[in-house]
Amino acid sequence: MFVVIMGPPGVGKGTQCKRLVQWLNIPHVSTGDMLREARKALPPSDVLARMDGGNLVADEVAIDLVRRRLELPDCHRGCLLDGFPRTTAQAEALDEMLAERGRQVAVAVKLDGDDDQLIQRMLSRATKENRPDDTVETLARRMEVYRQQTLPVAQYYQRQGVLRSVNAGGTPDEVFVAIQAAIPDVDSPGEPNGGT
Ligand code: AP5
Ligand code: MG
Repeated sequence: MFVVIMGPPGVGKGTQCKRLVQWLNIPHVSTGDMLREARKALPPSDVLARMDGGNLVADEVAIDLVRRRLELPDCHRGCLLDGFPRTTAQAEALDEMLAERGRQVAVAVKLDGDDDQLIQRMLSRATKENRPDDTVETLARRMEVYRQQTLPVAQYYQRQGVLRSVNAGGTPDEVFVAIQAAIPDVDSPGEPNGGT
């Protein structure tokens, strides 16, 4: 089963994906995490520096990362996509990659939270982790980018009939239960024939 988890910065995508990988028994593919890893290994470049200012990296970079990740055997049965696709071009590219395998996105879960709550969550994370994009200024830019470039992806999945919106304002446990209810047919999601 291929599941997309989307939502604004700080809404809890990564937090929920950690729980969902156990439940769904499929790998967690986070383009944000992959880009942060890539940045550690590479000298500073304009491509990856865009992240620090809250802007998206180029579509080709994100698409290429996911394409190579989906080719690894652990993703053959499906995966949880966190932070990808973030633009309509990425969503189209993902559909093509999956269609090559006779697969499709089973469900796109959109986590919704109110701005004040997201800001509080992220500033609190900034005290524990050291993400260069967790500052008030960059956060505002990340939210703007989400509204302008990523919300159209929700419409894209709405048109496909696979979008499920979930209120992420509760505790992590409450949000997890709501996401579970939004994901269909989870008897054996990791089995070869388990869902799409
Ligand atoms: P990415 O790493 O995806 O960041 P993001 O979307 O801004 O989201 P975050 O990771 O900050 O938040 P989250 O929703 O995962 O929340 P979390 O669980 O951590 O992307 C970073 C950058 O990489 C982008 O800006 C872009 O530059 C680049 N990028 C990535 N993918 C790309 C792509 N496809 N194309 C182009 N560029 C791309 O939770 C946040 C905090 O809240 C935590 O401290 C957590 O403990 C807490 N929390 C979570 N849930 C709850 C709850 N229910 N109640 C209370 N606290 C909670
Ligand atoms: Mg995250």
